[in-house]
Amino acid sequence: MTRVLGIETSCDETAAAVVTLLPDGSGEIRSSVVLSQIGEHAAFGGVVPEIAARAHVEALDGVIEAALLDAGIELSEIDAIAATAGPGLIGGLIVGLTTAKALATVSGKPLLAINHLEGHALTARLTDGLAFPYLLLLVSGGHTQILLVRGVGAYERWATTIDDALGEAFDKTAKLLGLPYPGGPSVEEEARKGDPLRFDFPRPLRGEARPDLSFSGLKTAVRQAATGIQPLTAGDIADICASFQQAVVETLEERVGRSLLRFRDAFPEVAGPSLVVAGGVAANAAIRAKLEEICRQGGFRFVAPPLQLCTDNAVMIAWSGVERLRAGEAANGMDAVPRSRWPLDSAAAPLIGAGKRGAKA
Ligand code: KG4
Ligand code: ZN
Repeated sequence: MTRVLGIETSCDETAAAVVTLLPDGSGEIRSSVVLSQIGEHAAFGGVVPEIAARAHVEALDGVIEAALLDAGIELSEIDAIAATAGPGLIGGLIVGLTTAKALATVSGKPLLAINHLEGHALTARLTDGLAFPYLLLLVSGGHTQILLVRGVGAYERWATTIDDALGEAFDKTAKLLGLPYPGGPSVEEEARKGDPLRFDFPRPLRGEARPDLSFSGLKTAVRQAATGIQPLTAGDIADICASFQQAVVETLEERVGRSLLRFRDAFPEVAGPSLVVAGGVAANAAIRAKLEEICRQGGFRFVAPPLQLCTDNAVMIAWSGVERLRAGEAANGMDAVPRSRWPLDSAAAPLIGAGKRGAKA
């Protein structure tokens, strides 16, 4: 049995967790503590890096203690520590990695530096026992990517946003319409009451051969529609949200559909291919329903881990540590430096703005 303590501080969640690798190869979540800072950032309509870093400093020790306590495990009984080293907000990463190094030093345990995106990418193996390869759609406040997950440490970025992340587009739309932060849930709620056909918003990059995504043109169109109506009634707001969400849903249908076809071509031998979703936007019921539909039509299994494991957490970091140890990797965390940018696929061309906030993934 391998027991790993995971630590996650790359954005606005302070999180720690203990995950155990069982003899049959499956993982068991022994504890998961996630302290969200949403309340501290809400007044600003987005994550403020300085506030986030200070909040991590204040909360992290207690969160780690709680995770060990919940798991009923002492630090001395842990086999390794895994901490997020990037990508994300540098202040939070420094807090998490430094704390992890201190714990590793005093306890004599090995330390693994984990890529936060890898955490998202490998979660479905813990929750659903997925075999490689599979496709991952990561849609959060900081990242919007379609990744081919070939193996531990073997990722290909098939598509990325060339400007805004999808969660960011939801958050900005909400802010523009005076809806509360975080914007995703508010926009979804308004959308339920509105007319998705009233505004004909653009479906950016639709039909183009390049597989990428783009949301800034959509955001601009929403702004123009909103400023063009004075005064904005509750009905107008609901209609804008519904039309915006409809544009997003149809964009994902076409863009993700393209990668499903590509996967089929690349891996004809994979009999039951899977599409996994991760990131906070995966909570959106309309988006989920459309993804389920295109998976059904394309012969894919749609895998959506429980929402608390789709959004930022430390279970995914601990599990990545388990996967890396199992793959025979030496623990190299003591030499690691925090990296605000750290693409999973180092061969992919850096794109301006692709997850540029670097804040959330
Ligand atoms: O994964 P997450 O909790 O944090 C990171 O970004 O790492 O994702 C948060 C993002 C925010 O942009 C939020 O507005 C969006 O996910 N989100 C949603 C919904 N719930 C959260 N977007 C659309 N519909 C939702 N129901
Ligand atoms: Zn994330």
